[in-house]
Amino acid sequence: MELNGNLKIAVQRSGRLSEGSLALLRQMGLRFETYQDRLFTSCRNMPIDILFLRDDDIPEYVQDGVADLGIVGSNVLDERDVNVERLLPLDFGYCALSIAIPETSSYTSVQELNGKKIATSYPQILAKYIKKKNIKAEIIFLKGCVEIAPALKVADGICDLVSTGSTLRTNRLRTIDTVMQSQAVLIGTEKTKPQNRSTVEKLILRVQAVQDARAYKYIMFNLPRVALEKVKKLVPGCKSPTVVPLADPDFIAVHSVVLEEEFWDIVEKIRECGGSGILVSPIEKFIRS
Ligand code: PRP
Ligand code: ZN
Repeated sequence: MELNGNLKIAVQRSGRLSEGSLALLRQMGLRFETYQDRLFTSCRNMPIDILFLRDDDIPEYVQDGVADLGIVGSNVLDERDVNVERLLPLDFGYCALSIAIPETSSYTSVQELNGKKIATSYPQILAKYIKKKNIKAEIIFLKGCVEIAPALKVADGICDLVSTGSTLRTNRLRTIDTVMQSQAVLIGTEKTKPQNRSTVEKLILRVQAVQDARAYKYIMFNLPRVALEKVKKLVPGCKSPTVVPLADPDFIAVHSVVLEEEFWDIVEKIRECGGSGILVSPIEKFIRS
């Protein structure tokens, strides 16, 4: 890769976060080509390069300023003592760092791993956790393929990420305890060159716009004009709802945005106020301010 002045974003090369990371970058308007086993790609429409790295290496790359931004699981950040800025949680890549044992084991609680061996790629987090729980276990540090440690008799249990649970299932392991929850986060660094700072800020705004678009729905409905004052409070939108006259002077159409999670409650109240013909559509992008 040529050393150009392009802004660099580091994402996981292959794994749980790869697909979600690339989808987010595309929703943010970045246009690029990619295929399996690529190491980097340059965007067609912006001076940005995407680096495909092992997720565990991303915090250091960002800390050292080799990458300006990175998408990584919060679990990886909690494990390492790295100096990066946590910019935004990204609302994907949800998983749990869990302690698991062979399906056939008779253990019913994590306490039974006292005096035993636990294999993990997260020795710092695990050490703190078992200390808190008053468990003395030997921590076997493995960089990858932690899930086969019990079958190889390298350890009695493991502490690893569980997302869909299919890795545990395939390796005949079951969760006995959960250490922490994790999701993807956007990280940045103070080492970003001055000429790239404004692009970083623009990208953060775009991430927020993508997230807000996902969190909100666009709603339109007809309403008896007399019910407007009441309904205005239900669907305030950004400033206040858009009100459009209908051919029938007693009715208006109201347009607004509502939070997806409050959506059903609001719809019921709109109906109680006489609202009808309620149309809802997804929002592609939402720039709130
Ligand atoms: C984690 C973990 C498991 C997998 C669990 O890997 O090490 O291999 O995800 O997911 P599942 O419950 O859906 O099967 P990650 O993508 O973080 O890659 P790495 O372990 O190679 O860093
Ligand atoms: Zn990893």
